[in-house]
Amino acid sequence: MKITLSVIKADIGGYVGHSSSHPDILAEAQRCLEKAKKSGLLIDFHVTRCGDDLQLIMTHEQGVENERVHKLCWDTFVSGTEVAKKLGLYGAGQDLLSDAFSGNVKGMGPGVAEMQFEERKSEPVIVFMADKTSAGAWNMPLYRTFADPFTTIGLVIAPNMHSGFSFEVHDVKETKKVTFSAPEEIYDMLVFIGAPSRYIVKAVYSREAGNIAAVTSTQKLSLIAGRYVGKDDPVCVVRCQGEFPAVGEVLEPFALPHLVEGWMRGSHHGPLMLVSIPQSNPSRFDGPPRVVAAGFQITGGKLVGPRDMFDDPSFDEARRQANRIAEYMRRHGPFEPHRLPLDEMEYTTMPQVSKKLRGRFVKLD
Ligand code: 13P
Ligand code: 13P
Ligand code: MG
Ligand code: MG
Repeated sequence: MKITLSVIKADIGGYVGHSSSHPDILAEAQRCLEKAKKSGLLIDFHVTRCGDDLQLIMTHEQGVENERVHKLCWDTFVSGTEVAKKLGLYGAGQDLLSDAFSGNVKGMGPGVAEMQFEERKSEPVIVFMADKTSAGAWNMPLYRTFADPFTTIGLVIAPNMHSGFSFEVHDVKETKKVTFSAPEEIYDMLVFIGAPSRYIVKAVYSREAGNIAAVTSTQKLSLIAGRYVGKDDPVCVVRCQGEFPAVGEVLEPFALPHLVEGWMRGSHHGPLMLVSIPQSNPSRFDGPPRVVAAGFQITGGKLVGPRDMFDDPSFDEARRQANRIAEYMRRHGPFEPHRLPLDEMEYTTMPQVSKKLRGRFVKLD
């Protein structure tokens, strides 16, 4: 059976500030998607959150970028925004950058990661969701899972993974894409994906059979809105086992809390801290950035799960390390490299301050 797994998310209001989500928002989304499941549009769904971002995880047979599924999500975000407004939640409707739905939520603010595939006899998938960071945060973990044998021993010892994976990379500034083959082209690829604010891994495919292995949301809110409206807070879906890396090989890269963009006012670098879903409440300096992982077995299109994959004491050391890095980075205050470099600050107050002071700058002798 060919099924589509769609993960569509938006920040439609924070509780309190940008730190978390109000239960009434999740209940409203649950109500909307329950109706869609009864109508037959969805096979199954799971509503969850990461920090202040509402996550709609859905299975159906409509294919990717389906207008009815996207409209369902848009309408769910709009009715959730009404609840957020009534509760006076912070930034109600924050990520809904357009007034009217026009066929597809891509480019309207919400983040979208969708894949269609033939369901295997056993289909384990992991849905990663992050808060207080930007699209591109998945570049390093995806590289390490699908191209680095120090993470994924399966690349060495599993015959069906030995031919490697191909990476579809998007240039989000010039809206172009390119595909690289790993392992042969990893050096070329790293030139680009090592700059994750511009070059973002959109999808990964197994080269043996050409099947889709992973997909991410690449929507950049600042590029859509032309100003700062909150961070992208991206999602990523990864299929596991068999011809793909094992569950533990997919989780392993997150044991390094790598530095990502985001945190306070979306304008800082900080460690991506892996946490259980109930602990995804970024509070210290509105962070540090968080990542959660919901695991499912997809069976007959049904989402059997979730298992809260980072709810495991074996990751405690990574969390401690993230806290130590967070402390070190925080001590830099308003200085780079804690604060983002100038070109990334163009969507904040920086241009206004520059304009105000333009006349005060005099030529050096
Ligand atoms: P089991 O023997 O528990 O099925 O695990 C196999 C495996 O490959 C784990 O990575
Ligand atoms: P969000 O992108 O999660 O809404 O956070 C915005 C922010 O400014 C945090 O300080
Ligand atoms: Mg917010
Ligand atoms: Mg958020």
